Amino acid sequence: MRFDVHKIQLFHFYWENFDLMPKALKATLRLTGQMKRATANAIRYRIQEHEIPINKLPPAFNGYRILHLSDLHIDEIADGGERLCNIIAELDYHLCVITGDYRFDTYGVHDETIKRLSKLMDVLDCPDGIVGILGNHDFIEMVPELEALGIRMLLNESMPINREQQQIWLVGLDDAHYYEVHDLARATLNIDTSQPTVLLVHSPEVIEEAEAFGFDLYLCGHTHGGQVCLPGGLPIIGNARCQRNKLSGRWSHGSMQGYTHRGTGSSGLPVRINCPPEISIHCLKSSTQE
Ligand SMILES: [Fe+2]
Repeated sequence: MRFDVHKIQLFHFYWENFDLMPKALKATLRLTGQMKRATANAIRYRIQEHEIPINKLPPAFNGYRILHLSDLHIDEIADGGERLCNIIAELDYHLCVITGDYRFDTYGVHDETIKRLSKLMDVLDCPDGIVGILGNHDFIEMVPELEALGIRMLLNESMPINREQQQIWLVGLDDAHYYEVHDLARATLNIDTSQPTVLLVHSPEVIEEAEAFGFDLYLCGHTHGGQVCLPGGLPIIGNARCQRNKLSGRWSHGSMQGYTHRGTGSSGLPVRINCPPEISIHCLKSSTQE
């Protein structure tokens, strides 16, 4: 029997609900003189753009660009989100998806979150709109305000995207990480499975079920790619019940492709080491495979 390092599952702990962790990290960074650099890193965004071949992609969607933001934790972004807005204003895409965790804390008011999201909405500009799901930092009470901002929220729901009478389907799940209120059966009730299907989930923790269902693409975030990593981007903490090779970037599972976003914002403490914040564009391409 061969040993596969990617099949190691990390011991699970809800780090985001453990207040001592950010304090310990802050003390360590100060002690080692890394605080200034780590704080600056948190708004040094990296734009990740790549092609995703999709089997039987309708021709109208060949070259379709999906802007993927995740884990904005926008109320604690150091510059108020100014650099992020400036970068996004220059990008070109057809659809924007936001895979949860709009707010920083897991409790308390969300006024500042909505205020800053409103500024972000001013620069998000695409023909097929903005689609979001909730993460483990978010509350159901935020949904009317998020929708009033122009985000179409999918809570165990689906929607088609139509172009030239051709379509792909977006399915959005509620949080599977902490609240465990995801419902794949309900979310997929009305979809046309003969068309390409894209699943939005906050965390990479519904992979087996999604692949068994037959999804073509799984987009998620939550892990922040570790946020504070060893050289080479090796996560110290994964914070998700998944294989280590699903903690960031592109991956595949059976016939399903997936992408785990490293997060646009930061949680716990707005710092990053060896793990830059990310703005992703997934460009769908027709695959010749039958
Ligand atoms: Fe999260």
